[in-house]
Amino acid sequence: MYPQFPPGFRFGMSTSAYQIEGAADAGGKGPSIWDTFTAQGGTVRHGQDGRVAIDHYHRYESDIALIAAAGVQDYRFSFSWPRVLAGDLDFYDRLVDTIVASGLRPVPTLYHWDLPQEFEDAGGWMNRDTAHRLADYASTLVLRLGDRVRDWITMNEMNVHTLYGYALGDHAPARGLGLGALPAGHHQLLAHGLAVQVLRTHGARGVGVASQHFPVMPATESAEDVAAATLFSDLTNWTFSDPILLGDYPSELIRAGVGVPDAQLDRDLELIRARLDFYGVNYYEPTMIEAPRVGKDYSGVLEVDIPDGMPFSPVPVKSDERTDFGWAIVPSGLTEILVTLHERYPALPPVIITENGASFHDPAPGPDGRVHDERRIAYLGAHLAAVADAISAGVRVDGYYVWSAIDNFEWAAGFDERFGLIHVDFDDLSRTPKDSYYWYRDLIAAQAS
Ligand code: FCB
Repeated sequence: MYPQFPPGFRFGMSTSAYQIEGAADAGGKGPSIWDTFTAQGGTVRHGQDGRVAIDHYHRYESDIALIAAAGVQDYRFSFSWPRVLAGDLDFYDRLVDTIVASGLRPVPTLYHWDLPQEFEDAGGWMNRDTAHRLADYASTLVLRLGDRVRDWITMNEMNVHTLYGYALGDHAPARGLGLGALPAGHHQLLAHGLAVQVLRTHGARGVGVASQHFPVMPATESAEDVAAATLFSDLTNWTFSDPILLGDYPSELIRAGVGVPDAQLDRDLELIRARLDFYGVNYYEPTMIEAPRVGKDYSGVLEVDIPDGMPFSPVPVKSDERTDFGWAIVPSGLTEILVTLHERYPALPPVIITENGASFHDPAPGPDGRVHDERRIAYLGAHLAAVADAISAGVRVDGYYVWSAIDNFEWAAGFDERFGLIHVDFDDLSRTPKDSYYWYRDLIAAQAS
C-alpha cells in the first residue's frame, strides 16, 4: 500500500527561518532583504509579510514536538542570518537542543534567502565580499552548534534566488538585472565552496547543498524551441550544479557572464567543486520553454514574466492536474530529473530530496477537528513513488523531506499558499495536523526497516 524504501532511508520535513520564525526585531535583530522587500507596497499578495509569520520563534517547542511525533528522522530548517549577526545565538542553541532531545537529526541550511539588509546595501550577492561574510557566518554557527549539529546544508536554491531576486523583480532584493545577474549566482556558489571548507574544518560529518532542479521541455521539436529550452536549462539547472559536480560552467556564455577573470575563476571553481556528502534536490514541477513568438503577448501567461528581449519564454506545462498554486503535477518529472542528474554527474553523491510538496487551499479544521487534504496525500504518494522509481533505475537516494512541515509565509504569495502537513490558523496561530500528516506518519511506520 505504501511505497517502500531501502533500509536506512531517511524521512524528514523542511522549513526556513523567514517563512516561520517571525520575531522580526527580537534580540536586536536587524532587517533582512525580505523585511525590506515586504515593507515596500505591492510586492507580496495582500501586502503580507513575515514579521510575525507563524511565530515559531516563540512556539518552537510545541512545533518540534509535533514534527517529531510524525516519526520522521530528520528536520531541515534554516538560520536567520540577521538574527545570528545580532548575536542571538541562544535561540538556535535552544532550538537545536529541543530538536536533538526529540530524537530528530537537525539538518540546518545556512542560507535560505534572508540576506542581512546591511550586506545588500554593500552590493548583496553582486559583491564578492558577501561570499566571505557567509563563510564567517558559517564559522560562527559551526563553532557554537557543531557539537550537536553534524549535518549541514550550505545554500538553498541559488538558482531561484538569482533568477527571481537578482535577474527579475519577483523576490527580494528585486534587482531586475536580467542576464547581468550571473555574478550573483557565482558569488553564491563561491560562498557555498567557502562554507564547505569551514564546516569540514570544524568537524562537520555531512555537508550538502539544496538545489532546485526540474526537467525543461521545449514547447515543440523546432530547432528554435530546442535551443531556447537548452539555454534556459543551462541558466537555471546546470549553472548551479555543473560548477559543484563537474568543476565548470555549462557554456562559454555563462563562464563569461559571471564576470570573473580566468585565473581567478579557475581558483574559485576549485573551491566550488569541493566533495559533498550528499546532494539535496528540491523538486516541484517541470518547465516548458519556447523561443519567443513574434507578436505574442506573454504577460500574465505565467506567474513570472520574463522581460522582453530574453531569448526564451516559459509557457504552461501541459498537465491535467495542478495544485492550487497553479503548479503542474508531474511526478514523473522527479524520476526524470533524478536520472538526468545521475547520468550527467559521475561524481553525484547520494541524493536527498530536500524539498517536495504542494500548496492546496485547505479548509479550516472541520467539526471533527481534522483537515481533510486528500489531494496533498495523492501528490506526496505519487512523488514518493517517483523517487522509488528513480532508485530502481539506479539512482542512489538516501532521503526525502516534505516541504513543508507546517503552513507558512510563501514568499511573494504570502499566506494564501499552504504547503504544510500541519495546518495553521493565521488568526490565532493554532496548529492542527492535517490528514496528510497522519498519512506520512503511517507511511514511515510501515517501512520494513
Ligand atoms: C522553494 C523554496 C521554499 C518554498 C517552496 C514552495 O522554492 O525553497 O522556501 O517556498 O519553494
